Amino acid sequence: MAKRPRLPAGHDTLDQILFEQGFGARRECEGLICSGLVQVNGEVVDDPDAVFPQDRLALVVDGQPWVTHVKALVMLHKPAGYECSLKPGAWPGVHNLLPAPLRKRGLQPVGRLDQDTTGLLLMTDDGPLLHQLTSPKKNVPKVYEVTCKHPVTQLMCDQLLKGVVLDDDPEPVAAHAAERVGEGETVHLRLTLLQGKYHQVKRMVAAVGNRVEGLHRSAIGRLTLPEDLALGQWRWIEDPAIVLP
Ligand code: URA
Repeated sequence: MAKRPRLPAGHDTLDQILFEQGFGARRECEGLICSGLVQVNGEVVDDPDAVFPQDRLALVVDGQPWVTHVKALVMLHKPAGYECSLKPGAWPGVHNLLPAPLRKRGLQPVGRLDQDTTGLLLMTDDGPLLHQLTSPKKNVPKVYEVTCKHPVTQLMCDQLLKGVVLDDDPEPVAAHAAERVGEGETVHLRLTLLQGKYHQVKRMVAAVGNRVEGLHRSAIGRLTLPEDLALGQWRWIEDPAIVLP
């Protein structure tokens, strides 16, 4: 194999950049470039060895506008009927909602939402960031809008704040915040959790004698699901600091 020339830090050849962004095997990327199907900063570049910065490079690849991200962190407005599992069974996987290059890069969900839960889901191919965001020590607050079967009482909120015992752990687990939403008798509860235990909201709500009928995650850290991000749509997160505590 020909020796690759030494390149300035943070730079690479166009074929390698396309490959790492998930546009296919090296040969396929080279083919796209040589066929004149790749623009960089608005100009067609047909030399696979042309050197560019790797990050935040404005490409158009076969008609698809794409800004390169060396590490991908995206938010997804998860609809019901999708599984977060990497090997989904009964339901399609959330990765199906991402464009082909991100599917190829193997982004993983940051924590999981149940099949019937909607709302804010993060996905990344940045291993250390995934670890940071899912580490129980990091205490990233996650806000859930819960629709319950029965009216939510102040006593239930107080119990959730004080801590409830779940079936798999003798240590009580407490909500960071729990408030009734709406006037008078209401079935709406806003719950903020620092942990990410399996079915945690459903089990905590069951532990105080109610039942979850609908579940939506509205925020993670300082990031609130944008109102203009439609169900099933995704968007880049440019700075991970927004989801770190
Ligand atoms: N807690 C649950 O019970 N389900 C979710 O999807 C997320 C948190």
